[in-house]
Amino acid sequence: MKIVETIQKRHSVRTYTGEALRDEHIAQIEEHISRLKTPFGMKARVVLASINSGGTAVKLGTYGLVKGASNYLVLICEKDPFSETAGAYLFEQIILFCTSLDLGTCWIGGTFNRSDFKKQISIEANEQIRVISPVGYASTQKRFVEKYIVQSDKKHASRKGFGELFFDNNFKNPLTKGTSGRFLTPLEMVRLAPSANNKQEWRVLLDEGYLHFYKKPYPMFDTIDMGIALCHFELTCKELGMAGQYERLANYPENDKLKYVISWVIDNEKEAYGI
Ligand SMILES: Cc1cc2nc3c(=O)[nH]c(=O)nc-3n(C[C@H](O)[C@H](O)[C@H](O)COP(=O)(O)O)c2cc1C
Repeated sequence: MKIVETIQKRHSVRTYTGEALRDEHIAQIEEHISRLKTPFGMKARVVLASINSGGTAVKLGTYGLVKGASNYLVLICEKDPFSETAGAYLFEQIILFCTSLDLGTCWIGGTFNRSDFKKQISIEANEQIRVISPVGYASTQKRFVEKYIVQSDKKHASRKGFGELFFDNNFKNPLTKGTSGRFLTPLEMVRLAPSANNKQEWRVLLDEGYLHFYKKPYPMFDTIDMGIALCHFELTCKELGMAGQYERLANYPENDKLKYVISWVIDNEKEAYGI
């Protein structure tokens, strides 16, 4: 899977043809899920559910938001903010894999019936069903509800400017596409990340040897949105052969409006030798 190309291709699909996922697609997705590890040493898992479970049709409700989908990806993670971030990272890897197979997906955090999903998926006491996504064949017809969501969420397809999200050395100094050097593409892929209500409240500070990741705290989805951004950044760096790893530092530049999450520690030595 080509990461940059796939990130650019992904968009939310809410209307499907009604056709259930073909066996070969189910096998490919399940094989991909089985190969992935949850990052940051956290626990989370993803299940592929079907409305035709065991030959009987079951209800997996999305309050009319999603139409024609027979299969859903379900993210189950522990009740802990960083487990949610790690789970979102894992989930986005699967979303991108499905995109690379030309399947439609849509992150759904609020508008689904949790008890429908709980009936089909058993979860432990310390676990929660955090988000779902339909996965299937996109319909070419758009329904009124979908057009309405896209229009009312004005910035749906658009993203904030580079300099609004990324900073150079300090938070008063916006990073520009011209000054971001080799981090231009990884940061551009963060900018394209999906987020709840398209809020895009991740911020990145480029510092000597580091890129520090922060979020503007907001209820329900800031932990999830951050995991998606971290996924896009790291997968893009890997694709471009840029070495580094995430670390949660004890000392980092503070900002009273932003909450520090993690830093990307640049590994110049490994990068120079292409390790
Ligand atoms: C954590 C999360 C929760 C979301 N929840 C919903 C939802 O409940 N209903 C919905 O229609 N879209 C939901 N979305 C989709 C976003 O609205 C969408 O990703 C964003 O507007 C950007 O559009 P795009 O995915 O086409 O790039 C969610 C996205 C994320 C990342």
